[in-house]
Amino acid sequence: MAATSSKPITLTQFLIEEQRAHEDFSAEQRLLIEVVARACKMIAIQVSRGALGGVLGEAGTGNIQGEAQKKLDVISNEILLQANAWGGHLAACASEEMADPQPIPDVYPKGDLLLLFDPLDGSSNIDVNVSVGTIFSVLRAPKGVDPTSAEAFLQPGAMQLAAGYCVYGPNCTLVLTIGHGVYGFTLDREIGSFLLTQRDMTVPADTREFAINMSNQRHWDAPMQRYVADLLAGADGPRGKDFNMRWVASMVADVHRILTRGGIFIYPWDRKDPSKPGKLRLMYEANPMAMIVEQAGGAATDGRGRIMDIQPGSLHQRVPVFLGSKNEVEAATGYHLEHD
Ligand code: AHG
Repeated sequence: MAATSSKPITLTQFLIEEQRAHEDFSAEQRLLIEVVARACKMIAIQVSRGALGGVLGEAGTGNIQGEAQKKLDVISNEILLQANAWGGHLAACASEEMADPQPIPDVYPKGDLLLLFDPLDGSSNIDVNVSVGTIFSVLRAPKGVDPTSAEAFLQPGAMQLAAGYCVYGPNCTLVLTIGHGVYGFTLDREIGSFLLTQRDMTVPADTREFAINMSNQRHWDAPMQRYVADLLAGADGPRGKDFNMRWVASMVADVHRILTRGGIFIYPWDRKDPSKPGKLRLMYEANPMAMIVEQAGGAATDGRGRIMDIQPGSLHQRVPVFLGSKNEVEAATGYHLEHD
């Protein structure tokens, strides 16, 4: 990070300085992130209008996951698609809301980057005015593969060039990694720009806080039962300390808390629907969040191995997720490995 001024710098200035500082961060990648950030500002406006904008409630459609779409899911997806169609840096994009990758319209130039996104994560929170967010991931289109085929996107998370999320909460914050640390930008609504507000975000290695949907407890497998029972046993149990619990049901908000003060986020495999290996999507949620958390010094596993080493088999693949404070993720992973 070259800037030394104490005056907050804009995302644009930050990205230009990063491009000068890192050979692996191209002008094309910089422009793509600028476009995604612009789309996030537009989504933030829609989210903040709430009932006044007529954007609450169901869209009356379903997505590829078979989930009912909210109006804001559809609006956010459309904003991201339109914003990214004409920039000239993308080969194609893929959305959690769409079955297949979206080609760039023929009238526009194309680049060699691939963008994946979950346009509005945590959408069950929209109608109750609780934080939601956008998650994105950037890959390079492999040579010799049709970039509009799912195959082009099926790369392990370790191949991501950049990842980020934007949380639409009491303020609008964009968190970004281009593989050189994690930076947070707060939207200054008066000037319409994201300003750098958090440098080198770091997840503390140890924590006393966990995030999980406890209502699924009876559906978990043995190592999960044992791990959480030990957390709940507190200072008198084998972990020797008391743990607090938080669950927003919006991964972006839960991960943002963990990036700010530490913690472990878990969405494990459960028996509710044994055909699904987890609830969260590898390509749109787990991989980008894993890159951010690892870049901030944390860890991310599927309960057994590193998330970013998983070779995806399909665009909408699901995966169990354990991420956050390094020592706690290692402890939770240890319960599973010991059990195997
Ligand atoms: P969706 O965007 O479909 O609402 O899913 C949200 C994800 C994730 O953001 C959150 O951590 C999790 O699902 C919440 O799941 P539960 O409702 O099962 O707790």
